[in-house]
Amino acid sequence: MASQTAGYSRTHIILHWVIAALVLFQLFVHTGMENAWIVSQGGVAEGANPLPHILAGIAILVLAIWRVVIRLRHGAPAHPAGQPALLTVLANGVHLVFYALLFILPLSGLAAWFGHVEPAAIAHVYIQLAFLPLIGLHVAGALVQQFWFRTGVLRRMAVPDRAL
Ligand code: HEM
Ligand code: HEM
Repeated sequence: MASQTAGYSRTHIILHWVIAALVLFQLFVHTGMENAWIVSQGGVAEGANPLPHILAGIAILVLAIWRVVIRLRHGAPAHPAGQPALLTVLANGVHLVFYALLFILPLSGLAAWFGHVEPAAIAHVYIQLAFLPLIGLHVAGALVQQFWFRTGVLRRMAVPDRAL
């Protein structure tokens, strides 16, 4: 993407952790939406409440757009020195798929719920399955970098080098 900076900005770091928390909420607290979907399809289910899932999903979409804009405008730091090439390729791949999911899931969810597009609902349910394994890979990669290669990568996502 754009130019390279010394580190991540405060806004970028806050967005990373807020989006991560919202994604985990979506992945683990979705029974209200599942039940609401069953009811919307003419079925019977108790505890239907789609609102938290819809609001969190829309928040993820808006924050992801904000994050992409910041990244394009202000750039991102180069990979840490001492990081093996294979890990760099893997990290780039995972980050790219993350960004794709942060757009595809809210959009397919919105199309399913508000547009009654049945294939979008099916895609939504299958595509979200990719999230947890990728988060596992991402966290494992960050921990390996931090504690094996000692690249200080966790600090980069905790301590900003500038405000924006
Ligand atoms: C749903 C959860 C998460 C998503 C979607 C996510 C996404 C991303 C993305 C896209 C990047 C690349 C930086 C950028 O372009 O914005 C990144 C970087 C990073 N993430 Fe996550 N992340 C998640 C959870 C976590 C967790 C739980 C950790 C804890 C270990 C973590 C640690 C990091 C670190 C340390 C970096 C910086 C990597 C570097 O400087 O090269 N992330 N994350
Ligand atoms: C990043 C954002 C999102 C994530 C990670 C996510 C994740 C999930 C998960 C884990 C489920 C349960 C799947 C299952 O039945 O096993 C689900 C269902 C559903 N979500 Fe989302 N969701 C997101 C955004 C949205 C948005 C914005 C909407 C629309 C307003 C939405 C609408 C739905 C619907 C209608 C279902 C039920 C589909 C069905 O059971 O066939 N989602 N979502």
